[in-house]
Amino acid sequence: MGKGRIAYKLVACASIMLILYTLANILFIDPEFKEFLRHKTGLRRPLPLPAWFNVVYVHVAFACIAMAAGVLNFSKRLLHRYRQFHRINGYVYMASVIVVVLSSGYLAPYATGGRISSVGFNVLNIVWLLITAKAFIEIKNKRITSHKHWMIRSYAFCFTNVCIHLLTAVYVGGFGLNYPVSYTLGLYSAIALLLAVPQLLIRFGRTQL
Ligand code: HEM
Repeated sequence: MGKGRIAYKLVACASIMLILYTLANILFIDPEFKEFLRHKTGLRRPLPLPAWFNVVYVHVAFACIAMAAGVLNFSKRLLHRYRQFHRINGYVYMASVIVVVLSSGYLAPYATGGRISSVGFNVLNIVWLLITAKAFIEIKNKRITSHKHWMIRSYAFCFTNVCIHLLTAVYVGGFGLNYPVSYTLGLYSAIALLLAVPQLLIRFGRTQL
């Protein structure tokens, strides 16, 4: 099996596990986000809870759709056999990214860690939209390799949430920082990582996802 197929299978496994974990968490383990919300202290404005829950459910649902649609569209087999599916699924991915970004825009002002985290999330919103738009423009201009590269960069942001939580755990557990500070650092480190890793994958030629 070539490097490309192995990389694709690893990413597909990670995506499926992440979707299942996210859904299990929201449906059964912690549907009221008790664990997450207990760290929200000292917010500049009170959390409008019923609305926040509604938005976060929409956010998570479309994040899962984006993860699933994205990973399917990296499958070469699907692309070659069902080109029309790839096209429609690509629009599903883009629409999901837009919903995730819009919901994120609502959630950002209440972000754990305060204003610096809010700014980070809004920067991420803009960057993710621009990168996804670039991927779309590239394929409209029939630049296939470039489209694939920009989609790799775009898809990396589907791992934002897990990256933030893993890095936050490192800052809390490894460096003894308090949770809000760790969360903010986790967010900025995640942004850096999610921009750098796809770039390295593309640079070293492992783009056959
Ligand atoms: C695509 C994969 C993503 C998943 C599965 C996901 C999932 C979640 C979940 C479950 C929450 C609730 C809090 C928690 O338990 O962490 C959340 C919060 C949030 N997400 Fe996402 N998310 C994703 C991507 C993104 C992206 C790309 C952005 C920004 C562009 C974003 C922005 C936010 C914001 C602003 C919050 C509120 C954070 C806070 O209150 O501190 N998410 N997300």
